[in-house]
Amino acid sequence: AIDISKLRDLTGFITLDTGFKNTGSTKSKITFLDGEKGILKYRGYSIEQLAEKSSFLEVAYLIVYGNLPTQAELEGFQGEISKHTLIHEDMKKFFDGYPSRSHPMGQLGSLIFSLSTFYPECLKPNQTAEEQDLTIIKLLAKLPTIVSFIYKKSLGHPLIYPKNKYDYVTNFLWMTFGQRTEDYDVNPIVVSAMNKLLILHADHEQNCSASTVRIVGSSDCNLYASISAGIAALWGPLHGGANQAVIDMLELIKADGGDTEKWINKAKDKNDSFRMMGFGHRVYKNFDPRAKIIKKACDDILENLGIDDPILEIAKKLEEAALTDQYFIDRKLYPNVDFYSGIIYRALGFPSEMFTVLFALGRLPGWIAQWKEMHENKEPIGRPRQIYVGETDREFVDIKDRK
Ligand code: ACO
Repeated sequence: AIDISKLRDLTGFITLDTGFKNTGSTKSKITFLDGEKGILKYRGYSIEQLAEKSSFLEVAYLIVYGNLPTQAELEGFQGEISKHTLIHEDMKKFFDGYPSRSHPMGQLGSLIFSLSTFYPECLKPNQTAEEQDLTIIKLLAKLPTIVSFIYKKSLGHPLIYPKNKYDYVTNFLWMTFGQRTEDYDVNPIVVSAMNKLLILHADHEQNCSASTVRIVGSSDCNLYASISAGIAALWGPLHGGANQAVIDMLELIKADGGDTEKWINKAKDKNDSFRMMGFGHRVYKNFDPRAKIIKKACDDILENLGIDDPILEIAKKLEEAALTDQYFIDRKLYPNVDFYSGIIYRALGFPSEMFTVLFALGRLPGWIAQWKEMHENKEPIGRPRQIYVGETDREFVDIKDRK
């Protein structure tokens, strides 16, 4: 790669690359991705090994701080997080204010943004590493509480407060599915599935939301607000919102009689705006390695929980048909991380509107690490150039004379 940041000064030219299809914005040590071979590693560890052997909190530590924690470091990390799992009581007024059917992502983005008003120390310029760490810990600690409160409120159920005797993921499941009066009987299959899904979503280098977090942070904007901007970017159906869109699509195909060929043809038709949700990726031109793991996990989890979900069969039929279809082959369109994840979330008991929020829960360590690295690299403010193609030299016309 060549550094072309001085190209304009030297030659008067700028590069034009809409969608940044071939523009590197940074040098990063967080995530390695080979889209041709379908390889994904966090800090040098393969996603397959981490999903198999690690816990989400351990992976969060790895992504944010660069190394797998020792037992003592992990316990210290968990201990610090436990101190901050509660949210300010005044924040509960927000939940009462949102309309009951408002989308969880709309709530999540504004709640994370407003953390900057409850914890204004994040606004202090030139923070020490310890001060920055406190904001990181608070975010990691409060996000599961906020997500489960959003869910409970949507049901009209009483809020369940965190129990710090539980580990990170179990605590989240307790607050989401637990009963107020008794201990939540934690199903180890559900805990393990949730850990796996969160690990597989933990970072994905310079995607739309991570780039957003970096570019917002590059103006020296605080971490809460930068992450909130990432949540907005994630919401779109072309990015993280695809996990909800996939289930909506599979339901639609099921209601339409399960004719997968008809829907494959719709996706290929350039006069039809329909796209096969959960298919295709900017970087992967091969199987998304996360999708491979999730597909296998999906089979295992549904079998273990004794769930027979007809939309899994539709998903498999679509994948099979697409993989042998010349349109998909020519464009190297394979299932991505979102294709099977929603089926697992559904089996665990989450409604589809919560899926993208769960993606955000998993992606939080990645966003934090990207924001932190951008500062450590002392990167300049993000500010792309443009080629102006609008009107030039117009004379002002008084309003009474305009046509
Ligand atoms: N269904 C049908 N055709 C598709 C699909 C799809 N899902 N994805 C891409 N194509 C086609 C395009 O129409 C285009 O065809 P053309 O060359 O004949 O014009 C070609 O494949 C290349 O597609 P682009 O849109 O140029 O690829 P880009 O890299 O810009 O987009 C994206 C990638 C947004 C992921 C796209 O594949 C898509 O919309 N997929 C569906 C949404 C989705 O699943 N998003 C989640 C991505 S993973 C994540 O963000 C977590």
